[in-house]
Amino acid sequence: MALQNGEMSTEQLLHAQAHVWNHLFSFINSMSLKCAIELGIPDIIHNHAKPISLSQLVHALSIPKPKFHFVCRLMRILLHSGFFIKTDISDDEQNERYWLTPASCLLLRNAPLTVAPLVPLILDPIFTTPFDYVSKWLASEHHYSSPFEMMHGTKLFELAGQELHANRLLNEAMSSDARLLTHVLLREHKQALEGIQLLVDVGGGTGATAKAILDAFPDMKCIVLDLPHVVGGLEGTNNLSYAAGDMFETIPSADAVFLKVSSEFPHKNAYFVPFLVSLIHMDR
Ligand SMILES: C[S@@+](CC[C@H](N)C(=O)[O-])C[C@H]1O[C@@H](n2cnc3c(N)ncnc32)[C@H](O)[C@@H]1O
Repeated sequence: MALQNGEMSTEQLLHAQAHVWNHLFSFINSMSLKCAIELGIPDIIHNHAKPISLSQLVHALSIPKPKFHFVCRLMRILLHSGFFIKTDISDDEQNERYWLTPASCLLLRNAPLTVAPLVPLILDPIFTTPFDYVSKWLASEHHYSSPFEMMHGTKLFELAGQELHANRLLNEAMSSDARLLTHVLLREHKQALEGIQLLVDVGGGTGATAKAILDAFPDMKCIVLDLPHVVGGLEGTNNLSYAAGDMFETIPSADAVFLKVSSEFPHKNAYFVPFLVSLIHMDR
């Protein structure tokens, strides 16, 4: 049975309070990451080519001097959440040097396998504000399929068809995710795609997955099917073509259908993001 507050030991009370505070303020982790990406901090450290001191970082950021300590606080949060490491442990802040971790290497803007474009998408108010609607959505009798639809009046991919900003954020984020996961797919399971002459990537976005597959299989041909606002106006190549349409109406004929999506699954205290790939061989 739950303990009454008065029955908790001092340690339990303070531990419980810390637990509540940690959860109340955990959005600061995401927002600090967003700030770091907007300011280009991982790229500044990478371009510096060796661990960077706080004053060098502040200088590179062109931050006004009075805000020096706020950069220090920002870096402390990002250090704590595993995006940077400190190389010179010293009591004097001036001697601290920051360097990248594998996670911040994935956030370099021009890295071939960057996932930096996911940050502005996931932390845009388009995505975050619907979380204010969750309780209202759960309690309501409305037909909305999600808090997102309740807030925006439309579903994600329809919104992307109406708003250029959402379309751009979504396509860039999906492409970066696709490049990373296709790299893993080809490294671990390349043989699954062998022998296919014509592949159709259904909901294939702007073609990042298809391009990576075609780099590995230059003799293959690939059609990328996606909604008109995603593929309209994109130019193909000799072995890549785009088809604008609705997958629920028709899918171009091919040897195999490729479907990829990343999914989040709660696992113990963390979320891990495996990717689901379906490869369906078709009789033509
Ligand atoms: C979550 S994204 C995944 C993109 C890509 N497959 C990947 O894994 O990176 C889903 C994609 O499906 C497209 N899509 C959504 N509904 C669709 C439909 N009815 N017909 C075709 N494409 C659709 C979206 O425009 C978007 O590009």
